[in-house]
Amino acid sequence: MDYYKNNCKFVVLSLNGEEKRNFNLRDMIATSNTTINSYIETHKERFLSELFELLRIPSVSADPKYKNDVFRTADVIKEKLIAAGADNVEICPTAGYPIVYGEKIVDPKLPTVLVYGHYDVQPPDPIELWHSGPFEPVIKDGKIYARGACDDKGQMYMHVKAFELMMQTNTLDCNIKFMIEGEEEVGSDNLGTFVKANKEKLKADVILISDTGIIANDIPSITVGLRGLSYIEVEVTGPSRDLHSGLYGGAVANPINILCEMIAKMKDDKNRITIPGFYDDVEILSDEERAEMAKAPFSLDEYKKALNLSDIHGEAGYSTNERNSIRPTLDVNGIWGGYTGEGAKTVIASKAYAKISMRLVPHQSSEKITQLFKDYFESIAPKSVTVKVMPHHGGEPVVTPHNSVAYKAASKAMESTFGKKPIPVRSGGSIPIVAMFKTELGLDSVLMGFGLDSDAIHSPNEHYGVFNYLKGIETIPYFYKYYAELSR
Ligand code: BES
Ligand code: MN
Ligand code: MN
Repeated sequence: MDYYKNNCKFVVLSLNGEEKRNFNLRDMIATSNTTINSYIETHKERFLSELFELLRIPSVSADPKYKNDVFRTADVIKEKLIAAGADNVEICPTAGYPIVYGEKIVDPKLPTVLVYGHYDVQPPDPIELWHSGPFEPVIKDGKIYARGACDDKGQMYMHVKAFELMMQTNTLDCNIKFMIEGEEEVGSDNLGTFVKANKEKLKADVILISDTGIIANDIPSITVGLRGLSYIEVEVTGPSRDLHSGLYGGAVANPINILCEMIAKMKDDKNRITIPGFYDDVEILSDEERAEMAKAPFSLDEYKKALNLSDIHGEAGYSTNERNSIRPTLDVNGIWGGYTGEGAKTVIASKAYAKISMRLVPHQSSEKITQLFKDYFESIAPKSVTVKVMPHHGGEPVVTPHNSVAYKAASKAMESTFGKKPIPVRSGGSIPIVAMFKTELGLDSVLMGFGLDSDAIHSPNEHYGVFNYLKGIETIPYFYKYYAELSR
């Protein structure tokens, strides 16, 4: 095995399995602050330039025009995993974009961690609002600006570099399996199929994911809940062709007006969703649980200031942090129809469309909610129009344990590097595959992310702090160390 220290390379015998234990090399250079920090200090420029390489490839899974780029990203990740020391690295084809798999089995008796991440990114639009090219990464004020910088190339790549670090310093105390997919941002449908077909290959003790965030750089947290999702497209059709709005206006249904009225009907004056049965299965937290949640540091003033809002908005009777984590939502993500070009065109469009998402909480079911939405939407449509309801992807909500060995390992790891014990928090975002990992593989996930809400993921000028990137690389080796220790 080659060792690189301060750029000078020296070689020691290949040390594996029994040999390694006899040598007790691990005790000599056991995971320690000095080993980790000096390795990062020596290699951080390269860690950044390698991430930049990935960020330059526009791996937008939603848009077929980027198809070759998405495939190319998988190839690059394969090469990076091999270079970092992974074995059996392969590109697993799917009906869509491939999954990159790789592993390092140190000793079958040691616990196995399955690392999940995604190499696909959201579309960069609206492109004109970016201060620099979405696929031309730059560092400004200590932040890496690029689509995917945080979600999830930056966070996923921390794991590859932390793995390299552990290989090079011979401090890897667990077996690792990597599974990096390219369709997270479009619903992970093919990953579901892959997981079901490869249960043996994916056998592990826990799943480790960095695709979430922390409260602030000085307030570490670990995500213990994600919301589910029902995503639906609707089409409202009025007249069979676009009409002159003078000749026909007032006498026929305008599908855009009708669609707006229908959407408005879906919430009451308390901002509760009016779909019958929508709240039936919603998990009700106890007063104690809500009080515990309310302890997480949060400033409403800063929240409003960061978003340039004079007031907040949401379901009556719940705090902002409850509204965006333990309560379900219904939001229009896009709405279109008619004339939106330059100047004015007097027209009643034949069709109107909207994309609507509902975030779900435990124990709502995505399929059931989608059906309830469809029934309700159809029932409130006036006879003057016809409607079509087209479900897109969905995903189930999930709560992960915060007393497991793996959670404790993550907590200790973050405490070691942030100097503060992380707070368990429920997030409002969704990673649909996490619930599936539990049902299909029987595995819990640890959501040890390092992003910030202010990183603007999915928005123009997405960024990721260099601090957060390096902090992740520093923290991950501690997770393995403590997970191995606590599992013994
Ligand atoms: N990484 C995000 C989810 C996330 C971000 C969770 C921050 C918690 C904190 C993920 O890539 C994502 O964007 N998921 C989508 C769902 C998917 C089906 C498109 C989402 O939440 O909208
Ligand atoms: Mn993500
Ligand atoms: Mn995302």
